[in-house]
Amino acid sequence: MKIKSLLLTAALPLTLTLAACSGGANPDVSARQDVMKDWKDAMGVMGGMAEAPDTFDLAKFQENAQFLAESANKPWAHFSDKNELGGATDAIWSNPDEFKAETENFQKVTAELNTVAQNATTLDEILPALKPVGDSCQSCHEDFKKPND
Ligand code: HEC
Repeated sequence: MKIKSLLLTAALPLTLTLAACSGGANPDVSARQDVMKDWKDAMGVMGGMAEAPDTFDLAKFQENAQFLAESANKPWAHFSDKNELGGATDAIWSNPDEFKAETENFQKVTAELNTVAQNATTLDEILPALKPVGDSCQSCHEDFKKPND
């Protein structure tokens, strides 16, 4: 696996290789990527319960919903330098209004999910509020995150 990825890296054009490398180096890029990774974990926990309802654990769900809502504004200040693309597309800087709208929508739907979760007793009550959050991740990634290799 490691050898294969090294070979792949060597075969990539220089620009791509540099973009991939800058991901770890710049503190703003790592800060925003770290939050995104934690979001992926939180969505994994909640999505896992949605798929396997017998594993539903209300307290654990509430904890993850609260984490998303409380960190929903964290990454955006780390997108200030347009020379540090990381895994982002330059549409963030060429289309700032749409990016801002995506960040605001995300903060809204995660706050709603959290409110619903904190007041719920069953998974069925919460599920309708989970989907808009997943949709929001996806919608922003479509335009503003580079596709995975
Ligand atoms: C408003 C836009 C936006 C929203 C909302 C958003 N993301 Fe992202 N996400 C991005 C951008 C931009 C990147 C690329 C960041 C970079 O590499 O610099 C990214 C990167 C990621 C990554 C890769 C991180 C890495 O290690 O390189 C993961 C995983 C991720 N997002 C998960 C999520 C999940 C899960 C959600 C929803 C709960 C979400 N994102 C919501 C814009 C968004």
